[in-house]
Amino acid sequence: MSSSSSSSSSCCTLLIGLLCVILLGGSLSHGQLSPTFYDSTCPNASNIVRGIIAEALKTDARIGGSLIRLHFHDCFVNGCDGSLLLNNSATIQSEKEAPPNNNSARGFGVVDNIKTALETACPATVSCADILAIAAEESVSLAGGPSWNVSLGRRDSTTANRTAAGLFLPGPTEALSVLKAKFLAVGLNSTDLVALSGAHTFGRAQCSTFINRLYNFSGSGNPDPTLNTTYLSTLQGICPQNGNTTVVTNLDLTTPDVFDNKYFSNLQSLEGLLQSDQELFSTTGDETVAIVNNFTANQTAFFASFVVSMIKMGNISPLTGTAGEIRLNCGKVNNSTGSDGLLYSSM
Ligand code: HEM
Ligand SMILES: *[C@@H]1O[C@H](CO)[C@@H](O)[C@H](O)[C@H]1NC(C)=O
Ligand SMILES: *[C@@H]1O[C@H](CO)[C@@H](O)[C@H](O)[C@H]1NC(C)=O
Ligand SMILES: *[C@@H]1O[C@H](CO)[C@@H](O)[C@H](O)[C@H]1NC(C)=O
Ligand SMILES: *[C@@H]1O[C@H](CO)[C@@H](O)[C@H](O)[C@H]1NC(C)=O
Ligand SMILES: *[C@@H]1O[C@H](CO)[C@@H](O)[C@H](O)[C@H]1NC(C)=O
Ligand SMILES: *[C@@H]1O[C@H](CO)[C@@H](O)[C@H](O)[C@H]1NC(C)=O
Ligand SMILES: *[C@@H]1O[C@H](CO)[C@@H](O)[C@H](O)[C@H]1NC(C)=O
Ligand SMILES: *[C@@H]1O[C@H](CO)[C@@H](O)[C@H](O)[C@H]1NC(C)=O
Ligand SMILES: *[C@@H]1O[C@H](CO)[C@@H](O)[C@H](O)[C@H]1NC(C)=O
Ligand SMILES: *[C@@H]1O[C@H](CO)[C@@H](O)[C@H](O)[C@H]1NC(C)=O
Ligand SMILES: *[C@@H]1O[C@H](CO)[C@@H](O)[C@H](O)[C@H]1NC(C)=O
Ligand SMILES: *[C@@H]1O[C@H](CO)[C@@H](O)[C@H](O)[C@H]1NC(C)=O
Repeated sequence: MSSSSSSSSSCCTLLIGLLCVILLGGSLSHGQLSPTFYDSTCPNASNIVRGIIAEALKTDARIGGSLIRLHFHDCFVNGCDGSLLLNNSATIQSEKEAPPNNNSARGFGVVDNIKTALETACPATVSCADILAIAAEESVSLAGGPSWNVSLGRRDSTTANRTAAGLFLPGPTEALSVLKAKFLAVGLNSTDLVALSGAHTFGRAQCSTFINRLYNFSGSGNPDPTLNTTYLSTLQGICPQNGNTTVVTNLDLTTPDVFDNKYFSNLQSLEGLLQSDQELFSTTGDETVAIVNNFTANQTAFFASFVVSMIKMGNISPLTGTAGEIRLNCGKVNNSTGSDGLLYSSM
């Protein structure tokens, strides 16, 4: 170890200070997310997000569902990094236009409103990726579901990958084995798959996403046999053959806008809307069946698992420390970032 030729105490203090900054920066860049991340820099962030969602709910009862889905679709594609929110540009093919999202993912205007409010309250501080994580929790809580301390400190990507969004996001007509594999690929197991699918306790789906079950399921010439015949008639009325497949209906026919465990009892009465929903209960012998039964019998167990699984999903490969940036506008990357990671351009 060589010692510095300059050994004045003020210089040592400076060197130690710099060392601390470097070590701190280093640890942050590999660091974990933390519920207290904005406690000193933007203590009211969650309340601001909640207020804007509460306002939006007055005219759009499904917005909470739309927002939690954005967090899910962000996290499954190269981690929770806000990549889903980027618009097309000269260098970006947006994930918004990937098949699972195009004409389906919604709520971007509300995210922009949240970002604007947060930029006023605490400029260049709260990432778009974290906005989605907070909005997911507040949406669940406002709909009667659990509250939890959201892990924070994610930073925003400067890229998006439409191809990856098409490959990694699960589809409503995929077999349970495929859904499980896609969740396992991001570190989520069968308990997480069932718990997180419980988010279909609110929100809507278009006829295009379940019409495969109504008339000619898998080329059988008949409807999906795991679809309740009464519910089948209802759905055939909503989605006639050769009709408008952008019409939407409730994912949870029992309590459409409430976050509760009715989604799971619906599966038991063969009233899951999507094939991917019903498979969780109707795939005889699969471990998911007992998990559905548990969550039907015990809403507390569902809520507890849901919170654990949301935190796990929110931890998928975040950018932290000095990686990425804090986008000023969630729809586009900043022009440039300085060595301090802050941005130096106008919106
Ligand atoms: C298990 C695999 C999943 C599949 C195949 C799936 C598929 C779908 C589909 C097809 C829709 C309807 C989209 C449309 O019609 O435009 C939808 C809506 C929705 N999904 Fe999922 N999903 C899955 C998991 C999840 C997860 C993990 C969450 C959140 C934790 C979630 C939350 C929602 C919500 C809340 C809606 C309603 C959105 C709205 O009303 O705008 N889904 N999902
Ligand atoms: C926090 O945000 C809420 C919602 O916008 C607002 O009503 C409240 O006054 C804010 N509190 C503080 C201390 O800024
Ligand atoms: C997304 O949907 C629009 C129609 O609403 C279509 O014009 C566009 O080509 C689609 N994007 C992609 C990449 O397929
Ligand atoms: C969040 O964390 C705080 C402080 O640790 C704790 O008092 C509170 O009960 C937690 N809230 C929830 C919903 O877990
Ligand atoms: C986008 O994702 C696909 C699928 O994972 C991958 O093959 C491709 O290299 C990615 N593109 C970029 C630019 O990272
Ligand atoms: C899934 O992982 C959780 C921990 O996050 C664990 O408690 C649970 O038992 C696991 N479920 C299965 C089916 O392995
Ligand atoms: C159902 O689909 C299969 C395969 O696409 C097709 O061969 C069959 O004619 C269809 N049956 C009816 C009744 O439309
Ligand atoms: C199809 O349904 C959607 C949603 O209800 C509606 O906005 C749209 O105008 C309809 N399109 C046609 C051609 O009727
Ligand atoms: C179909 O749904 C009705 C109404 O929820 C329910 O009473 C009935 O038991 C269901 N049928 C089956 C086979 O689960
Ligand atoms: C319901 O689940 C909770 C959380 O896992 C557990 O503490 C409780 O004992 C369960 N209740 C029943 C009646 O099984
Ligand atoms: C039901 O779920 C809760 C919460 O995840 C878990 O603690 C409990 O072990 C589960 N019970 C059964 C019978 O699977
Ligand atoms: C992104 O596109 C949406 C509509 O497609 C628009 O409302 C929003 O302003 C755009 N954001 C940026 C930064 O261009
Ligand atoms: C930022 O980029 C936009 C185009 O994307 C350009 O119009 C603007 O001049 C740039 N601003 C700076 C400060 O470079």
